[in-house]
Amino acid sequence: MAPRRSRYIVLAFLAIFLITFLSHYRDKWKHVAINDFAATGSILQQELDSLSADIPGNRTPPDSNTKYPHGKPIPNHEYTRMIVVPKKKAEDTTWLDTELPDTPKAVYVVDDWWAPLRPPKNKGNEAMVYLSYIIDFYDKLPDISVFIHAHRSAWHNNDLLDADTAMMIKHLSSARVIREGYMNLRCQWYPGCPGWLHLDAQKENEEKKEEVLVKGAWMELFPHDPMPPVLGQPCCSQFALSRDRIREVPLKEYVRLRKWILNTKLRNSMSGRIFEYLWQYLWTGSATICPSMHVCYCDGYGACFKNETKFQEWFEMRYYIRQDEWRLLGWELQEATFADLISKGRRKEAALVERGSEEQMKALKGKIDERWIVLDSWRGGALEYGKDPQVRARLAGREWREGDGY
Ligand SMILES: *[C@@H]1O[C@H](CO)[C@@H](O)[C@H](O)[C@H]1NC(C)=O
Repeated sequence: MAPRRSRYIVLAFLAIFLITFLSHYRDKWKHVAINDFAATGSILQQELDSLSADIPGNRTPPDSNTKYPHGKPIPNHEYTRMIVVPKKKAEDTTWLDTELPDTPKAVYVVDDWWAPLRPPKNKGNEAMVYLSYIIDFYDKLPDISVFIHAHRSAWHNNDLLDADTAMMIKHLSSARVIREGYMNLRCQWYPGCPGWLHLDAQKENEEKKEEVLVKGAWMELFPHDPMPPVLGQPCCSQFALSRDRIREVPLKEYVRLRKWILNTKLRNSMSGRIFEYLWQYLWTGSATICPSMHVCYCDGYGACFKNETKFQEWFEMRYYIRQDEWRLLGWELQEATFADLISKGRRKEAALVERGSEEQMKALKGKIDERWIVLDSWRGGALEYGKDPQVRARLAGREWREGDGY
């Protein structure tokens, strides 16, 4: 992908970002107009705040908190992969074949009885498909299974990797997946970290309606396990697993979990969303898994900055660009409204539309473009720096031994 993207693509993406973000948290934001900067500002602010929460030494818990043994990557080994994707018949996943032609895919079509791969029932969102894949392929798993959604771009993908799933998979380090066993594909903490679903929650939280249901679900799903106070990991149910890690859990356990989804009275979105914060428990035994964002980007995708400050600077600038992009989008929408009213002959109403001057818009566009160039060059440097396996090991706090797999 070209390092510098046209601002139109960026703006289109931002609009999608807002709309999908708002629909994910529909209830909280339903009264928000598209150009209400207070709301988007607050989303952006939370993202920014989550960065400063991520100071080394202040990580809770550590990256590799797992009750299962870590894998040992083989140097220069070509690991086999399978991409697991749930999709509706109407959804287009051709981008996967264009972008990742050599990686096998298990595409489960949830609403097509004639599809070669399909779950027993379209229920529980992606959780049903992920569990069905594991049940169907338990005896013939590849080294690494990558579980993703059908859409290529999403607000919840990684900013540093263009929020692009194809780019994420291309950069994904097989060695980290083998070592960690379970790796959340999202590095950014908000939403989901350092803790998200509180099991003792009494009052419904509009932003996470599943929270008050999770205690009941836990008692049904893991009746013999002590109940943790809180579940947390970066959101949105996209992750990679090693074969060994999948097989740490017996097949009949996956069948049991799927049966729970098949039988539960909970709405699809709620049962799916509960699983979004159970995967880390299932495959690590830890209720919260929030690796350092920088370590995740560096060891997971080879994007390594010289130090934590440089890493944070990238995201800070990204944050300011986003603010400007929102402002620009707001103005462009106002212009479109103005033109529309004029074309309908509603001059009086048109005169009331607040518009930016041409110079203002031009200056803003220039500023956004300039900052993108800086951001892209910083990222280029980070990807270059991260090519050195010793750098990745050091940043991840791993002792380096000659001959280690990476
Ligand atoms: C981080 O790296 C930059 C550039 O190499 C350097 O100027 C700065 O002093 C470093 N900051 C810290 C806290 O080490």
